[in-house]
Amino acid sequence: MTKRIAVLAGDGIGREIIPEAIKILDAVGVRFGHSFEWHEGQVGGDAIDATGFPLPQETLDLAKSSEAVLLGAVGGPKWEGLDYERRPERALLGLREQLGLFANLRPAKLYSALAEASSLKPEVIEGIDVLVVRELTGGIYFGQPKGIETTSTGHRGINTEVYTTEEIARIAHVAFKAAQKRNRLVTSVDKANVLESSELWRRIVVEVHKDYPDVTLHHMYVDNCAMQLIRNPRQFDVIVTSNLFGDILSDEAAMLTGSIGMLPSASMGADVAMYEPIHGSAPDIAGKNVANPIGMIASGAMMLASSFNLSEEAEAIEQAIQTVLAQGYRTKDIEAPGTTLVGTKEMGTRILKLVQDET
Ligand code: IPM
Ligand code: MG
Repeated sequence: MTKRIAVLAGDGIGREIIPEAIKILDAVGVRFGHSFEWHEGQVGGDAIDATGFPLPQETLDLAKSSEAVLLGAVGGPKWEGLDYERRPERALLGLREQLGLFANLRPAKLYSALAEASSLKPEVIEGIDVLVVRELTGGIYFGQPKGIETTSTGHRGINTEVYTTEEIARIAHVAFKAAQKRNRLVTSVDKANVLESSELWRRIVVEVHKDYPDVTLHHMYVDNCAMQLIRNPRQFDVIVTSNLFGDILSDEAAMLTGSIGMLPSASMGADVAMYEPIHGSAPDIAGKNVANPIGMIASGAMMLASSFNLSEEAEAIEQAIQTVLAQGYRTKDIEAPGTTLVGTKEMGTRILKLVQDET
């Protein structure tokens, strides 16, 4: 089977981790008899430098005409002074919006070899397996009105949290369906004690839940959830929440697993899905061959499983990641006493070899 994939490396460490993912996916292709066609596009600061725009039309067209999008990361200090509409991050928001990627799945699973790398005690994080289902095309990220107004005394900055029945219902369906394949527990996270948009969120999630009697539904306020994730993360299976709360809680959930560099994500909703690690472009370590490529590589595995239905192939990558960690190889972010420090490329190559050798 031949698959056409848009590759948007973007900025910073995005440029270093994308090649690692591609070499491993190609090896999977060779081993299982698939071929992947990689079509590169410019995005983020890279695209701004080349064209003046973070998401050139050409890149958007490429993404739309592909079967999946693999994205590295966008952003960096070089472009921070630009207007919001011109910033690298707009590319990400534009892709999400234009491709209709309303559901962002961020699984935070502990690789047992990394229990020591977490800042929490091993007994607290042992066995955690949380899926954050983040709403991705609504809420305060996109709500109108927004902007900075001039007033008689200074300025007034405005953003608006908005959710409609449809937006809440469709993300709730995604969460309940995901829970049916997992441990059948959904925790819906909101701020319904203060926000009307959250009150509606809760009401609609309760409505949608009626279609899923086999799944248990809990509600939790976001501040409590931030606390519970650290106190007892094992209580969670699927967390479903708004765009902003999901942004925050998924970073927190990621860190439970030892490093934000480990976690993949999938954004879906319409025909084309997009896969990217949940970390950013990490300009401070970019270009030094120290970034952890595992979140990117695992995003490639998610693409195989979700977009192409190639679960055995995805499993081969997952297995190789587990093995490389069990063998004691670590990038800087997950380094621990008694382990072997490797760079971005060597980590990629070791996983590649394992994928080739597994039988
Ligand atoms: C993420 C990132 C993005 C977001 C930024 C880079 C726009 O933090 O994907 O979590 O806020 O959604
Ligand atoms: Mg984020």
